[in-house]
Amino acid sequence: MTEFDTVIHGGRVATASDLFDADIGIIDGRIAAINENIAGGGRRIDATGKLVMPGGIEAHAHIAQESSAGLMTADDYYSGSVSAAFGGNSSFIPFAAQHRGQSIADVIATYDGRAAPNSVLDYSYHLIISDPSASVLEELPGVFARGITSFKVFMTYDLMNIGDGGMLDILTVAKQHGALTMVHAENNDMLKWMNKRFAAAGLTAPKYHAVSRPELAEEEAINRAVSLAKLVDAPLFIVHVSTSGGAAIVQREKLAGTKLFAETCPQYLALTRDDLDRPGMEGAKFICSPPVRDKATQDALWRHVQSGTFESVSSDHAPYRFDATGKFANGADAPYPKIANGMPGIAMRLPYLFSEGVVKGRITLQQFVSLSSTGAAKTFGMAKKGAIAPGFDADIAIWDPEACRTATLADQHDNMNYSPFEGMQIEGWPVLTMNRGDIIVENGELKADRGRGRFVPRKPVDLTGKPGYRAKELDPAQNFGAEIAP
Ligand code: URP
Ligand code: ZN
Ligand code: ZN
Repeated sequence: MTEFDTVIHGGRVATASDLFDADIGIIDGRIAAINENIAGGGRRIDATGKLVMPGGIEAHAHIAQESSAGLMTADDYYSGSVSAAFGGNSSFIPFAAQHRGQSIADVIATYDGRAAPNSVLDYSYHLIISDPSASVLEELPGVFARGITSFKVFMTYDLMNIGDGGMLDILTVAKQHGALTMVHAENNDMLKWMNKRFAAAGLTAPKYHAVSRPELAEEEAINRAVSLAKLVDAPLFIVHVSTSGGAAIVQREKLAGTKLFAETCPQYLALTRDDLDRPGMEGAKFICSPPVRDKATQDALWRHVQSGTFESVSSDHAPYRFDATGKFANGADAPYPKIANGMPGIAMRLPYLFSEGVVKGRITLQQFVSLSSTGAAKTFGMAKKGAIAPGFDADIAIWDPEACRTATLADQHDNMNYSPFEGMQIEGWPVLTMNRGDIIVENGELKADRGRGRFVPRKPVDLTGKPGYRAKELDPAQNFGAEIAP
């Protein structure tokens, strides 16, 4: 008889495609068997009445990261990974951010030093590139070879914006190496123009953050980013889509076969700009970029979640405390452009999506699995993660679909002092999170040691089903034979 290290028995297994009753046998951190009534096991976990799903993969989180203004996030790789695990995630992909003048080797060494000794979960990085100089472009193949196969660029923030030419350079190198470029798409000049007008009118309260970043700024930038990617026929991932118009561009371009991927985030489904209009400076808790919008946008984004526009729903966990170490680093009554951008969400991403998505009948359980885990694994090349299948890592979350609670700060288990989800009624809760067969969280208790998480090298982007677009001006058959692009 096969000797399993662990058997999860009696549960209902949900994958991105199926729902069935089965036991799961685990050996050496991998799923070794999925069958009815698996006997034995060094440890037996009773999942009767529970859902057994792939552990979440959090694909957008800012952990132990300095903002371009130099402000460090409140969560490091320990607290960030612990918070993620309490929220049903088995692994995560935070950003390793290059600031101008830094070499990529230095960036990666810095983040290795932050992650390896601290993370309780398996992790990878998306590289953020803010300075695509010739020497940086030369370093990129080494980064891809190490299995860091995605990176983010910005079309906004003066200290991060790499311009259209910089994007074309990055997209081209990425295409050559099978990497995926992620983009924060907002039109920088539109935002600066708006900020000037609000400042001149003395309108600096947090609520003006929401309206200082027009929907058109995102829509224009998404359209431009897609055009740049199409020009060089490179894959592109639009992060944190917050507008109906932006999502519609993604949907249209996907239909056309463009090599395009996208995500939205719970805050754009759960919150509105009215949350920024809470008394005093409370609204600062909800300042993030792009900003949360309105009810009509929420409804439209939910329809896009339902109909497959997005590969994943990610948290964009960007934790800045509601005090002088975070939101108010520039003063307790700082004008909105000087308030740190971002909010925590790594623990609440999945409970929110399960409760408002699955329980309220907006998405199926299979869609939930896809949006929370399988989609990110496929998009970002995590070969052995994101599925319950023989040979895959035993990255599993067991959920109690009947659990009801009122969300509160204590549920986050992070270093934050507020929760944007405070008071929301949540139905369904992860009760056990496992990574490579190790129990990380069980019944509200942390069971894992700091630093047990491992770096996950990732595969090149899979472009199956995305034929792309050939610009005739770059096609030697149509441009008088000019070989000017790969
Ligand atoms: O407001 C946010 N989301 N801050 C984090 C940085 C980013 O653009 O994702
Ligand atoms: Zn961003
Ligand atoms: Zn972000």
